[in-house]
Amino acid sequence: MNKIEDQKKAALQAVSNSSSIEELEALKIQYIGKEGIFKLILRDLGGLPPEQKREVGATANSATQAVTNAIILQKGALEAEHLTKRLERERVDLSLPSATRPKGGVHPTMQVMDEMIAIFADMGFEVAEGPDIEDDFHNFTALNFPEKHPAREMHDTFFFHPNEGGVRKLLRTHTSPVQIRTMISGKPPFRLIVPGRVFRNNSDQTHTPMFHQIEGLVIDKTIHMGHLKWVFDTFIARFFETDKVITQFRPHHFPFTEPSAEMDVRYTRNGNELKIGDGDKWMEILGSGMVHPNVLTACGIDPNEYQGFAFGMGVDRLAMLKYGVPDLRDMFAADTRWLNHYGFSGFSAPNSVSGLS
Ligand code: PHE
Repeated sequence: MNKIEDQKKAALQAVSNSSSIEELEALKIQYIGKEGIFKLILRDLGGLPPEQKREVGATANSATQAVTNAIILQKGALEAEHLTKRLERERVDLSLPSATRPKGGVHPTMQVMDEMIAIFADMGFEVAEGPDIEDDFHNFTALNFPEKHPAREMHDTFFFHPNEGGVRKLLRTHTSPVQIRTMISGKPPFRLIVPGRVFRNNSDQTHTPMFHQIEGLVIDKTIHMGHLKWVFDTFIARFFETDKVITQFRPHHFPFTEPSAEMDVRYTRNGNELKIGDGDKWMEILGSGMVHPNVLTACGIDPNEYQGFAFGMGVDRLAMLKYGVPDLRDMFAADTRWLNHYGFSGFSAPNSVSGLS
C-alpha cells in the first residue's frame, strides 16, 4: 500500500517537473503503460488475501487515475507553453522597414510609356503592337516609300541576310508599320497608339541604335489637322503638367503623310533646368501629318471616304527631358546604379487619378 502511495507521489512529482512532451510520454509508459509500475503491482495481487486484494486494487486504480489526469493536464500546459514560445519566436514586425532595399526600378522610358498610355487612353486611344522584325512591305512600301527612294537609305536600316527566296527582313526603323498592320486587319474608324522599340544604324551622343517611339493614328470621316493640334497640345499639357502650352506646326516631308509637319513646343532653359510649354525657344517633339491617300489605298481603305492623321514621337528623349537624364547612352547601359537613381517604383503605375509620376 505504502509502496503504491510512494510510487504515486514520485509519478506526480515527475509529471509536474517534466518539461517536454517526450519526457511526459516516457513517464506515461513507465507508470501507466501496459508494462507500467501500477499494472505490475495489480498483476502481483494474486497471492494476497481477498480483503487486502480489494484494497490494494482500489488504491492502485486510483493512483493510475490520478497519474493519468496529471499527465493530461501537464500535456495541455506544455503544449500551450510550446505554442506561446513558438509565436514569440516567429513574430514578424510588419511595421519594420525591410532590411534590404530592392535594387533597380522601372526604367524612365517604360515609366514615360506608361504615362503616355494613361494620357492617350483617357482620350479614347487603344494600344496596338507589332513585331520588331519587319518586312520591306510594312516598313516602307505600304507607307508610300517609292522603290529605290533615298528615304529608305536615310532610315539607316539594319537588314538581315536575304533568305532562299531573296527576301530581306529588317529591324523596323519606326513604329509606322503598325499603322499598316492595324489598318489592313481592322475596319475604320481607328484611334490608336503604338509604343515600341525601333532600330537605326546610328550611334553618337544623341543617337542609339535602338530607341523607342510612340506612334499615333486617328482615321475617321472628318478628321483634320486641327484635331491633331488639339491632341498634341492636350498631351503636352498633361505630360509636362503645365497649363501653358504654345506649339507650332513646321512644314516637313514624310512619304506617308500629306501634308506633313513637325510640331514644336516652346521652352526656356534656365541653367540646367528646362521648362516646357512656355518660353522663347522651339523644341521639336514630333513628326506628323495627314495619312497619305496611297497609304489608305494600300490598306484597302477608300481615301474618298476616310481620312485622318498620324504622328510619331521619340519616347526616350521625352523621358530625358521630363526627368532630367543628361546622356542618352546611359539610358541603355544596363547599370543598376543608374537605375537606382533614375528608376521608378514598380508599385506606382501611372494613372490619371492618382497622378502620373
Ligand atoms: N515614322 C516617322 C519617323 O520615324 C514619324 C512619323 C510618324 C511621321 C507618323 C509622320 C506620321 O520619323
